[in-house]
Amino acid sequence: MRAAIASAEVGDEQKREDPSVTELQQRVAGLLGHEAALFVPTATMANQIALKLHSRPGDVLVAEETSHVLVYEYGGPAAHAGLITLGLPGTGGRLTPSQVREAVPHRTKVADQAPAILSLETTHNSSGGRVWPIDELEAVVATARNVGLAVHLDGARLLNAAVSLGVPPADIAARFDTVTVCLSKGLGCPLGALLAGSEASIERAWREKHLFGGAMRQAGIVAAAGIYALEHHVDRLAEDHARARRLAEAWHAAGVPVDLDRVESNFVQVDLEPLGLERDEALARLRVAGVGLSSTIHATVIRAVTHLDLDDDDIAQACELVPAALGVAVAA
Ligand SMILES: Cc1ncc(COP(=O)(O)O)c(C=O)c1O
Repeated sequence: MRAAIASAEVGDEQKREDPSVTELQQRVAGLLGHEAALFVPTATMANQIALKLHSRPGDVLVAEETSHVLVYEYGGPAAHAGLITLGLPGTGGRLTPSQVREAVPHRTKVADQAPAILSLETTHNSSGGRVWPIDELEAVVATARNVGLAVHLDGARLLNAAVSLGVPPADIAARFDTVTVCLSKGLGCPLGALLAGSEASIERAWREKHLFGGAMRQAGIVAAAGIYALEHHVDRLAEDHARARRLAEAWHAAGVPVDLDRVESNFVQVDLEPLGLERDEALARLRVAGVGLSSTIHATVIRAVTHLDLDDDDIAQACELVPAALGVAVAA
Protein backbone atom coordinates (compact mmCIF):
# COMPACT_ATOMS: atom_id res chain seq x y z
CA MET A 1 0.00 0.00 0.00
CA ARG A 2 2.87 2.38 0.84
CA ALA A 3 4.38 1.64 -2.60
CA ALA A 4 1.01 2.30 -4.29
CA ILE A 5 0.79 5.61 -2.43
CA ALA A 6 4.33 6.56 -3.46
CA SER A 7 3.76 5.87 -7.15
CA ALA A 8 0.21 7.30 -7.37
CA GLU A 9 -0.72 9.41 -10.37
CA VAL A 10 -2.20 12.64 -9.03
CA GLY A 11 -3.91 15.85 -10.13
CA ASP A 12 -6.10 18.58 -8.70
CA GLU A 13 -8.98 16.71 -7.11
CA GLN A 14 -11.09 19.86 -6.61
CA LYS A 15 -11.05 20.32 -10.38
CA ARG A 16 -11.88 16.61 -10.82
CA GLU A 17 -8.48 16.15 -12.45
CA ASP A 18 -6.97 13.54 -10.15
CA PRO A 19 -6.85 10.29 -12.15
CA SER A 20 -6.47 8.08 -9.09
CA VAL A 21 -9.48 9.63 -7.38
CA THR A 22 -11.53 9.30 -10.55
CA GLU A 23 -10.55 5.65 -10.92
CA LEU A 24 -11.40 4.88 -7.30
CA GLN A 25 -14.78 6.59 -7.62
CA GLN A 26 -15.63 4.62 -10.75
CA ARG A 27 -14.54 1.32 -9.21
CA VAL A 28 -16.56 1.88 -6.05
CA ALA A 29 -19.65 2.94 -7.97
CA GLY A 30 -19.43 -0.29 -9.98
CA LEU A 31 -18.75 -2.41 -6.91
CA LEU A 32 -21.81 -1.01 -5.13
CA GLY A 33 -24.15 -1.12 -8.13
CA HIS A 34 -24.57 2.67 -8.33
CA GLU A 35 -24.06 5.17 -11.16
CA ALA A 36 -21.48 7.33 -9.42
CA ALA A 37 -19.43 7.77 -6.27
CA LEU A 38 -17.65 10.62 -4.51
CA PHE A 39 -14.38 10.37 -2.59
CA VAL A 40 -14.38 12.16 0.79
CA PRO A 41 -11.96 12.17 3.75
CA THR A 42 -14.18 10.30 6.23
CA ALA A 43 -17.27 8.13 6.49
CA THR A 44 -18.77 10.72 8.83
CA MET A 45 -18.58 13.31 6.06
CA ALA A 46 -20.10 10.85 3.55
CA ASN A 47 -23.03 10.19 5.91
CA GLN A 48 -23.58 13.85 6.66
CA ILE A 49 -23.55 14.80 2.98
CA ALA A 50 -26.06 12.02 2.26
CA LEU A 51 -28.42 13.24 4.98
CA LYS A 52 -28.35 16.74 3.49
CA LEU A 53 -29.12 15.40 0.02
CA HIS A 54 -32.28 13.67 1.20
CA SER A 55 -33.85 16.31 3.42
CA ARG A 56 -34.78 19.89 4.21
CA PRO A 57 -34.14 21.54 7.61
CA GLY A 58 -36.90 20.50 10.02
CA ASP A 59 -37.39 17.07 8.46
CA VAL A 60 -37.03 13.92 10.54
CA LEU A 61 -34.22 11.36 10.26
CA VAL A 62 -35.26 7.85 11.33
CA ALA A 63 -32.53 5.43 12.42
CA GLU A 64 -31.80 2.68 14.94
CA GLU A 65 -31.16 4.43 18.26
CA THR A 66 -27.50 3.39 18.66
CA SER A 67 -26.52 3.88 15.03
CA HIS A 68 -23.36 5.82 14.23
CA VAL A 69 -25.23 8.73 12.61
CA LEU A 70 -27.16 9.27 15.83
CA VAL A 71 -24.61 8.67 18.56
CA TYR A 72 -21.11 9.26 17.18
CA GLU A 73 -21.39 12.10 14.69
CA TYR A 74 -21.51 14.99 17.15
CA GLY A 75 -25.09 15.93 16.37
CA GLY A 76 -24.20 16.35 12.69
CA PRO A 77 -27.75 15.63 11.47
CA ALA A 78 -28.99 18.61 13.51
CA ALA A 79 -25.94 20.81 12.99
CA HIS A 80 -25.49 20.31 9.25
CA ALA A 81 -28.89 19.34 7.88
CA GLY A 82 -31.21 20.80 10.56
CA LEU A 83 -32.74 17.37 11.07
CA ILE A 84 -34.85 16.18 13.97
CA THR A 85 -33.74 12.66 14.87
CA LEU A 86 -35.97 9.73 15.74
CA GLY A 87 -34.04 6.80 17.21
CA LEU A 88 -35.88 3.47 17.24
CA PRO A 89 -34.89 0.52 19.46
CA GLY A 90 -33.29 -2.19 17.36
CA THR A 91 -32.42 -5.86 17.68
CA GLY A 92 -28.79 -6.40 16.76
CA GLY A 93 -28.91 -2.98 15.13
CA ARG A 94 -31.84 -3.96 12.94
CA LEU A 95 -35.34 -2.47 12.65
CA THR A 96 -38.57 -4.07 11.48
CA PRO A 97 -40.94 -2.92 8.72
CA SER A 98 -43.68 -2.20 11.27
CA GLN A 99 -41.34 0.05 13.30
CA VAL A 100 -40.58 2.03 10.16
CA ARG A 101 -44.25 2.19 9.17
CA GLU A 102 -45.26 3.43 12.64
CA ALA A 103 -42.49 6.03 12.61
CA VAL A 104 -44.20 7.77 9.71
CA PRO A 105 -47.58 8.91 11.04
CA HIS A 106 -50.47 9.73 8.78
CA ARG A 107 -50.17 13.45 8.09
CA THR A 108 -53.18 15.49 9.08
CA LYS A 109 -52.07 18.87 7.76
CA VAL A 110 -49.37 20.12 5.44
CA ALA A 111 -47.37 21.63 8.28
CA ASP A 112 -46.80 18.34 10.13
CA GLN A 113 -43.11 17.63 10.50
CA ALA A 114 -42.28 14.84 8.13
CA PRO A 115 -39.86 11.93 8.33
CA ALA A 116 -37.74 12.19 5.18
CA ILE A 117 -34.94 9.63 5.52
CA LEU A 118 -34.30 6.20 6.95
CA SER A 119 -30.62 5.47 7.61
CA LEU A 120 -29.57 1.85 8.19
CA GLU A 121 -26.15 0.49 9.16
CA THR A 122 -24.38 -2.77 8.27
CA THR A 123 -22.26 -4.12 9.76
CA HIS A 124 -23.75 -2.41 12.80
CA ASN A 125 -21.04 -0.97 14.99
CA SER A 126 -22.70 -0.58 18.42
CA SER A 127 -24.32 -4.00 18.39
CA GLY A 128 -20.93 -5.67 17.84
CA GLY A 129 -20.51 -5.83 14.06
CA ARG A 130 -23.89 -7.45 13.41
CA VAL A 131 -24.92 -8.08 9.81
CA TRP A 132 -28.37 -7.41 8.30
CA PRO A 133 -29.69 -10.49 6.46
CA ILE A 134 -30.64 -9.48 2.90
CA ASP A 135 -34.32 -10.44 3.23
CA GLU A 136 -34.78 -8.31 6.36
CA LEU A 137 -32.99 -5.42 4.72
CA GLU A 138 -35.16 -5.70 1.64
CA ALA A 139 -38.38 -5.74 3.68
CA VAL A 140 -37.41 -2.63 5.65
CA VAL A 141 -36.19 -0.73 2.59
CA ALA A 142 -39.38 -1.59 0.68
CA THR A 143 -41.51 -0.37 3.58
CA ALA A 144 -39.51 2.85 3.84
CA ARG A 145 -40.03 3.54 0.14
CA ASN A 146 -43.75 2.80 0.47
CA VAL A 147 -44.10 5.42 3.16
CA GLY A 148 -42.12 7.95 1.14
CA LEU A 149 -38.70 7.87 2.84
CA ALA A 150 -35.34 8.12 1.12
CA VAL A 151 -33.03 5.32 2.25
CA HIS A 152 -29.36 5.74 3.10
CA LEU A 153 -27.00 2.95 4.07
CA ASP A 154 -24.15 3.71 6.45
CA GLY A 155 -22.05 0.90 5.05
CA ALA A 156 -18.79 2.04 6.63
CA ARG A 157 -18.16 -1.73 7.02
CA LEU A 158 -20.30 -2.81 4.08
CA LEU A 159 -17.52 -5.01 2.69
CA ASN A 160 -17.36 -6.91 5.98
CA ALA A 161 -21.12 -7.45 5.69
CA ALA A 162 -20.81 -8.67 2.10
CA VAL A 163 -17.99 -11.06 2.97
CA SER A 164 -19.90 -12.33 6.00
CA LEU A 165 -23.00 -13.03 3.86
CA GLY A 166 -20.95 -14.32 0.91
CA VAL A 167 -22.67 -11.94 -1.53
CA PRO A 168 -21.39 -9.24 -3.92
CA PRO A 169 -21.47 -5.82 -2.19
CA ALA A 170 -23.95 -4.55 -4.80
CA ASP A 171 -26.52 -7.11 -3.59
CA ILE A 172 -26.70 -5.10 -0.37
CA ALA A 173 -25.89 -1.59 -1.60
CA ALA A 174 -27.79 -1.21 -4.86
CA ARG A 175 -31.21 -1.06 -3.19
CA PHE A 176 -30.34 2.19 -1.32
CA ASP A 177 -30.50 5.76 -2.63
CA THR A 178 -27.06 6.49 -1.21
CA VAL A 179 -24.39 4.35 0.42
CA THR A 180 -21.33 5.21 2.51
CA VAL A 181 -18.36 2.89 2.42
CA CYS A 182 -15.17 3.48 4.43
CA LEU A 183 -11.60 2.71 3.42
CA SER A 184 -9.93 3.27 6.77
CA LYS A 185 -11.43 0.42 8.80
CA GLY A 186 -11.03 -3.24 7.81
CA LEU A 187 -9.61 -2.18 4.44
CA GLY A 188 -6.57 -0.71 6.18
CA CYS A 189 -6.19 2.66 4.40
CA PRO A 190 -4.87 5.69 6.27
CA LEU A 191 -8.11 7.59 5.55
CA GLY A 192 -10.90 7.99 3.04
CA ALA A 193 -14.49 7.02 2.35
CA LEU A 194 -16.91 7.14 -0.56
CA LEU A 195 -20.53 8.06 -1.02
CA ALA A 196 -22.28 6.25 -3.88
CA GLY A 197 -25.60 7.07 -5.52
CA SER A 198 -27.19 8.23 -8.75
CA GLU A 199 -25.31 10.61 -11.12
CA ALA A 200 -27.68 13.40 -10.08
CA SER A 201 -27.23 12.89 -6.31
CA ILE A 202 -23.47 12.61 -6.57
CA GLU A 203 -23.36 15.81 -8.60
CA ARG A 204 -25.21 17.52 -5.74
CA ALA A 205 -22.89 15.78 -3.27
CA TRP A 206 -19.87 17.44 -4.93
CA ARG A 207 -21.25 20.83 -3.90
CA GLU A 208 -21.78 19.62 -0.31
CA LYS A 209 -18.23 18.25 -0.23
CA HIS A 210 -16.90 21.72 -1.12
CA LEU A 211 -19.17 23.26 1.52
CA PHE A 212 -17.80 20.87 4.16
CA GLY A 213 -14.25 21.82 3.17
CA GLY A 214 -13.70 18.26 2.03
CA ALA A 215 -12.57 19.00 -1.52
CA MET A 216 -8.86 18.25 -1.70
CA ARG A 217 -5.90 18.72 -4.03
CA GLN A 218 -3.55 15.82 -4.85
CA ALA A 219 -5.79 13.34 -3.04
CA GLY A 220 -4.68 10.58 -5.39
CA ILE A 221 -2.04 9.57 -2.85
CA VAL A 222 -4.90 8.40 -0.65
CA ALA A 223 -7.11 7.15 -3.48
CA ALA A 224 -4.24 4.92 -4.61
CA ALA A 225 -4.30 3.30 -1.18
CA GLY A 226 -8.05 2.73 -1.66
CA ILE A 227 -7.53 1.09 -5.06
CA TYR A 228 -4.82 -1.11 -3.55
CA ALA A 229 -7.14 -2.07 -0.69
CA LEU A 230 -9.98 -2.99 -3.05
CA GLU A 231 -7.60 -5.30 -4.91
CA HIS A 232 -5.83 -6.86 -1.93
CA HIS A 233 -7.79 -6.37 1.28
CA VAL A 234 -11.38 -7.36 0.57
CA ASP A 235 -11.33 -11.17 0.32
CA ARG A 236 -9.00 -11.33 3.31
CA LEU A 237 -11.73 -9.83 5.55
CA ALA A 238 -12.88 -13.45 5.90
CA GLU A 239 -9.65 -14.10 7.84
CA ASP A 240 -10.52 -11.30 10.28
CA HIS A 241 -13.96 -12.81 10.75
CA ALA A 242 -12.53 -16.30 11.35
CA ARG A 243 -10.07 -14.87 13.88
CA ALA A 244 -12.85 -13.02 15.70
CA ARG A 245 -14.77 -16.28 15.93
CA ARG A 246 -11.68 -18.07 17.22
CA LEU A 247 -11.19 -15.43 19.92
CA ALA A 248 -14.85 -15.55 20.87
CA GLU A 249 -14.89 -19.34 21.17
CA ALA A 250 -11.69 -19.46 23.22
CA TRP A 251 -12.84 -16.72 25.58
CA HIS A 252 -16.29 -18.23 25.91
CA ALA A 253 -14.78 -21.63 26.73
CA ALA A 254 -12.59 -19.97 29.38
CA GLY A 255 -15.60 -18.31 31.02
CA VAL A 256 -15.35 -14.80 29.54
CA PRO A 257 -18.91 -13.46 28.99
CA VAL A 258 -19.16 -13.50 25.19
CA ASP A 259 -22.35 -14.21 23.24
CA LEU A 260 -21.19 -16.42 20.37
CA ASP A 261 -24.41 -15.84 18.41
CA ARG A 262 -23.55 -12.18 18.10
CA VAL A 263 -20.15 -12.67 16.48
CA GLU A 264 -20.89 -12.17 12.78
CA SER A 265 -17.90 -10.19 11.51
CA ASN A 266 -14.68 -8.83 13.00
CA PHE A 267 -15.86 -7.65 16.44
CA VAL A 268 -16.08 -9.56 19.70
CA GLN A 269 -17.96 -7.87 22.52
CA VAL A 270 -17.32 -8.81 26.13
CA ASP A 271 -19.90 -7.95 28.78
CA LEU A 272 -18.10 -7.18 32.02
CA GLU A 273 -21.21 -7.07 34.17
CA PRO A 274 -21.23 -10.78 35.19
CA LEU A 275 -17.56 -10.40 36.15
CA GLY A 276 -18.30 -7.42 38.43
CA LEU A 277 -15.46 -5.52 36.76
CA GLU A 278 -15.47 -1.79 35.97
CA ARG A 279 -14.77 -0.99 32.35
CA ASP A 280 -11.75 1.28 32.97
CA GLU A 281 -10.23 -1.27 35.34
CA ALA A 282 -10.70 -4.06 32.78
CA LEU A 283 -9.22 -2.02 29.93
CA ALA A 284 -6.26 -1.02 32.10
CA ARG A 285 -5.56 -4.65 33.05
CA LEU A 286 -5.76 -5.68 29.40
CA ARG A 287 -3.40 -2.89 28.41
CA VAL A 288 -0.86 -4.06 30.97
CA ALA A 289 -1.23 -7.59 29.58
CA GLY A 290 -0.49 -6.18 26.12
CA VAL A 291 -3.92 -6.61 24.54
CA GLY A 292 -5.83 -3.60 23.21
CA LEU A 293 -9.60 -3.75 23.60
CA SER A 294 -11.76 -0.64 23.60
CA SER A 295 -14.88 0.77 25.20
CA THR A 296 -18.29 0.86 23.49
CA ILE A 297 -21.42 2.94 23.89
CA HIS A 298 -22.65 0.35 26.42
CA ALA A 299 -21.23 1.05 29.88
CA THR A 300 -20.32 -2.55 30.73
CA VAL A 301 -19.34 -3.78 27.28
CA ILE A 302 -15.83 -3.72 25.81
CA ARG A 303 -14.85 -4.78 22.34
CA ALA A 304 -12.07 -6.54 20.45
CA VAL A 305 -11.60 -5.88 16.73
CA THR A 306 -9.62 -8.17 14.45
CA HIS A 307 -7.86 -6.52 11.50
CA LEU A 308 -5.08 -6.93 8.98
CA ASP A 309 -2.31 -6.09 11.44
CA LEU A 310 -3.16 -9.13 13.59
CA ASP A 311 -2.02 -12.65 12.67
CA ASP A 312 -2.77 -16.10 14.08
CA ASP A 313 0.01 -15.82 16.68
CA ASP A 314 -1.47 -12.58 18.02
CA ILE A 315 -4.85 -14.26 18.25
CA ALA A 316 -3.38 -17.29 20.04
CA GLN A 317 -1.80 -14.96 22.61
CA ALA A 318 -5.01 -12.99 23.07
CA CYS A 319 -6.92 -16.24 23.62
CA GLU A 320 -4.72 -16.85 26.69
CA LEU A 321 -4.00 -13.33 27.91
CA VAL A 322 -7.53 -11.95 28.03
CA PRO A 323 -9.13 -14.53 30.38
CA ALA A 324 -6.11 -14.25 32.65
CA ALA A 325 -6.18 -10.44 32.70
CA LEU A 326 -9.92 -10.40 33.42
CA GLY A 327 -9.41 -12.85 36.29
CA VAL A 328 -11.48 -15.60 34.72
CA ALA A 329 -10.44 -19.11 35.74
CA VAL A 330 -9.32 -21.05 32.66
CA ALA A 331 -10.90 -24.52 32.71
CA ALA A 332 -8.37 -27.28 33.33
C1 LIG B 1 -20.86 2.56 11.21
C2 LIG B 1 -19.91 3.71 11.12
N1 LIG B 1 -20.19 4.73 10.33
C3 LIG B 1 -19.37 5.78 10.19
C4 LIG B 1 -18.19 5.83 10.89
C5 LIG B 1 -17.32 7.05 10.76
O1 LIG B 1 -16.09 6.80 10.17
P1 LIG B 1 -14.97 7.92 10.06
O2 LIG B 1 -14.10 7.72 11.25
O3 LIG B 1 -14.28 7.62 8.76
O4 LIG B 1 -15.63 9.25 10.03
C6 LIG B 1 -17.84 4.79 11.75
C7 LIG B 1 -16.59 4.85 12.53
O5 LIG B 1 -16.32 4.04 13.39
C8 LIG B 1 -18.72 3.70 11.87
O6 LIG B 1 -18.47 2.67 12.69
